[in-house]
Amino acid sequence: MIAAGEVVQRPASVVKELVENAVDAGADQITVVITDAGRTLIQVIDNGCGMSPDEAVLCFERHATSKLATAEDLQHICTFGFRGEALASIAAVAEVTLKTRREEDEVGCQVEFADSKHLATEEVSAPRGCNFAVRNLFYNVPARRKFLKSDNVEFKHIIEEFTRVALTRPEIGFTLTHNGKDVYVLKPAKSLKFRIQDLLGGSAVDNVVDISADTSVVKVSGYISNPESARKTPGMQFFFVNGRFFRSPYLHKAVMNAYENLIPDGATPAYFIYLTVDPQTIDVNIHPTKTEIKFSEDSVIFQVLFACIREAIGRNSFGAAIDFDAPVSDIPVISRDYEKYRPADLTPDASFDPGYNPFEPDTHSSAPVQDYSKYIDRREEYGRLFEEKAAPSSSVIIWQSKYILTPSRDGVLVVNIRRARERILYEKFIKSVEINGHVSQSALFPVQVAVGAEHRLLFDEHEDLLHKLGFDISAFGTDTIVVNGVPEGFSCDSSKVEAMVADLVLILEDDSAGLAGIMEAAMAEKFARMGAAEGDNLTSSYEAQRLVDALFACQNPEYTPGGKKTMSLLSPEEIEKKF
Ligand SMILES: Nc1ncnc2c1ncn2[C@@H]1O[C@H](COP(=O)(O)OP(=O)(O)O)[C@@H](O)[C@H]1O
Ligand SMILES: [Mg+2]
Repeated sequence: MIAAGEVVQRPASVVKELVENAVDAGADQITVVITDAGRTLIQVIDNGCGMSPDEAVLCFERHATSKLATAEDLQHICTFGFRGEALASIAAVAEVTLKTRREEDEVGCQVEFADSKHLATEEVSAPRGCNFAVRNLFYNVPARRKFLKSDNVEFKHIIEEFTRVALTRPEIGFTLTHNGKDVYVLKPAKSLKFRIQDLLGGSAVDNVVDISADTSVVKVSGYISNPESARKTPGMQFFFVNGRFFRSPYLHKAVMNAYENLIPDGATPAYFIYLTVDPQTIDVNIHPTKTEIKFSEDSVIFQVLFACIREAIGRNSFGAAIDFDAPVSDIPVISRDYEKYRPADLTPDASFDPGYNPFEPDTHSSAPVQDYSKYIDRREEYGRLFEEKAAPSSSVIIWQSKYILTPSRDGVLVVNIRRARERILYEKFIKSVEINGHVSQSALFPVQVAVGAEHRLLFDEHEDLLHKLGFDISAFGTDTIVVNGVPEGFSCDSSKVEAMVADLVLILEDDSAGLAGIMEAAMAEKFARMGAAEGDNLTSSYEAQRLVDALFACQNPEYTPGGKKTMSLLSPEEIEKKF
């Protein structure tokens, strides 16, 4: 009835199973001792309920679980283990010794297994609980043993599994030692926050914000990092449901969406997110190591998660800063106040052109006919400001081909040209997809790219979207595509086109791409960045002014889609200070 699978893939799998069993056994202290990344020894010692001598032998039989009485129980699983398969699998590929005693027994017993064979049982004195020692993992499966990665890699996996369990049970003390050295000594903690602090080290916890939501479908609690402390190294992302770790590229996307524009490119916020749902709404029967699960209402959970993270970030929002390369710690989330950035001398009626293409200097005529009501709305919003602040003459300066400097009453606004183009193009792409499509430009020579049969299908599947973005792509044979046209503004050079196709494949392949809007955003972001990098130098202050106008016509002018600042204001005080 339950999908059986390979339980033991590497030392970390053994650690996971044994530690979870110890938790299920009601232990409040669990010690993990590792030698040589688990190749030589994996030992897990707990002070839980222990086993009788009979049970100590039986537990190594396949499907010898004490945790599942009926099939209906499957619907109400709250413990970690439930398939009675782990110990049998471990005993099949290693030498295992179990020493155990129950509270009520005078003496304990020691049982030895290897290669699935019961080798010995003897009486021993033992503290209450279980002590599993797993030696020489895969000694009898040389192919498997050869497959193991370096000690570093294998031990990293062990830490991962250890951490996941430790994060579900702050009240349990956990110790992990490797080759005789303590790696973690986690005392029983009063709350999750203390456990996170112990795991991550002192200051980490100052950078986290708590989240919570309570709906009929899901309850959410936990901690997320401030945008400022998001890092480039992933690895502190944890989802738990009903007390168990799970993986979810889909819900990860909800988190990343909530941080959109708030963190730099490639950064991932740390999060420790705990969901509680009715166990009956989870499909447990989909993954052998139980780390992937299916929620029956996953889109609702997505929305709830997104909203409560947004709310938490908003509650802890930050003021605006000046410097482009300062860490992004300063993004006004709820109340934006870029009015103060707005140049005093903007003359929107003369220069506002929503169809502005940052790559085509001085061509009014190329503006595609689209619905710009969104932009017009913003223009009205800014209109009031223009009246107030209007200055007699316009002055913009292009500085070092990289920046546009423009004075205003509140200081000197510095706009980063490439980043401004990125933002403008991004919104243009998004808009194009919403309406009728970005203008495509035909390649003089169609470019053939061999993408492989599997990827060819991706292009078929997403033909519509690609077309809207301005790609004209047709199939050629079973594994090749022909690019006849690329979005306006992009190079048709064959090596550039090939690079673009490679990017498309990556985005189209993304797990979560099925979700409406996300793939579009990912593509728009990617191509906006590529497009911005290709833009020609600005040659006149007129062009510069139009770029600034187009930027301010954006929904979110201050940041690139990746969260980098597009503009910065040098305040009068700052200028003053220099003299
Ligand atoms: N640390 C432990 N303390 C007490 N009993 C244990 C412990 N580890 C395993 N057991 C017993 O052995 C059985 C088999 O364990 P396992 O193969 O992991 O299957 P499962 O956890 O799926 O039930 C458990 O159901 C439990 O009764
Ligand atoms: Mg188990």
